[in-house]
Amino acid sequence: MPPETPRPENFEELRFRPPEPRIATTAELKKTRLGRYAEIGPRVVLREVEVGDFSYFERGGEAVYTKIGKFCSIAANVRINALAHPMERLTTHKISYRPNEYFRWLAVDQQVIDARKADEVTIGNDVWIGHGAVVMPGVSIGDGAVIGAGAVVTRNVPPFTIAVGVPAAPIRERFPAPIAARIAAICWWDWPLEALFDAVPDMQALPIEAFLDKWENQSTDRSASAK
Ligand SMILES: CC(C)(COP(=O)(O)OP(=O)(O)OC[C@H]1O[C@@H](n2cnc3c(N)ncnc32)[C@H](O)[C@@H]1OP(=O)(O)O)[C@@H](O)C(=O)NCCC(=O)NCCS
Repeated sequence: MPPETPRPENFEELRFRPPEPRIATTAELKKTRLGRYAEIGPRVVLREVEVGDFSYFERGGEAVYTKIGKFCSIAANVRINALAHPMERLTTHKISYRPNEYFRWLAVDQQVIDARKADEVTIGNDVWIGHGAVVMPGVSIGDGAVIGAGAVVTRNVPPFTIAVGVPAAPIRERFPAPIAARIAAICWWDWPLEALFDAVPDMQALPIEAFLDKWENQSTDRSASAK
């Protein structure tokens, strides 16, 4: 490099794109926290949601009272936490629990709101949710799970399990149990950016066993410059 073009001080940082979340202008977010590199597509609506680093929603997704881990891929038109209306009352319509929207002297029914908040959805790391799936209140989806397109998830989905259908049921494990355990043990989703940068070519080139053989014994602690 000629002396007249010195390396910028942050030369190493040029590997990384800016970590700020990307939010489509038509998305609506309320009381929501987004991690680094999170991406929120057009017309997505999120209310009281935590979205982990690198997780993304494609167009038209919707979530409420939900905690989402890192590296989740959420396809278009997915609904996470399809809230309940009271069915034991005269009417399921919101006139009974949000009367404030129609009348001046009647307040929102906090009991209904609190019950909904208590039934939050938890989604682990590296979860892929297929197009148009619906996740029902209170459900937990484990790390590495896959939810098929159009599924209605009414029960917890164990880690590294592929579940499809209405109601969603497991069709198979994503990996044999020993491999899934090794993936869970390396917690790659918590690696610093430097380690991920180095690991991507191996993710592409190596079969999963060879990837694990190599990376289980490798220090991913790049904490000196960890982001
Ligand atoms: C769940 C999924 C990953 C499974 O893929 P796979 O393991 O290759 O599954 P297969 O195609 O071998 O199907 C296995 C069985 O499950 C059934 N199946 C697959 N996907 C299904 C779905 N979404 N709903 C209901 N049944 C499904 C198949 O019919 C097949 O049944 P059979 O054994 O009775 O013939 C995939 O089918 C899927 O739904 N992907 C989501 C795609 C998507 O939404 N992309 C949006 C962009 S992110």
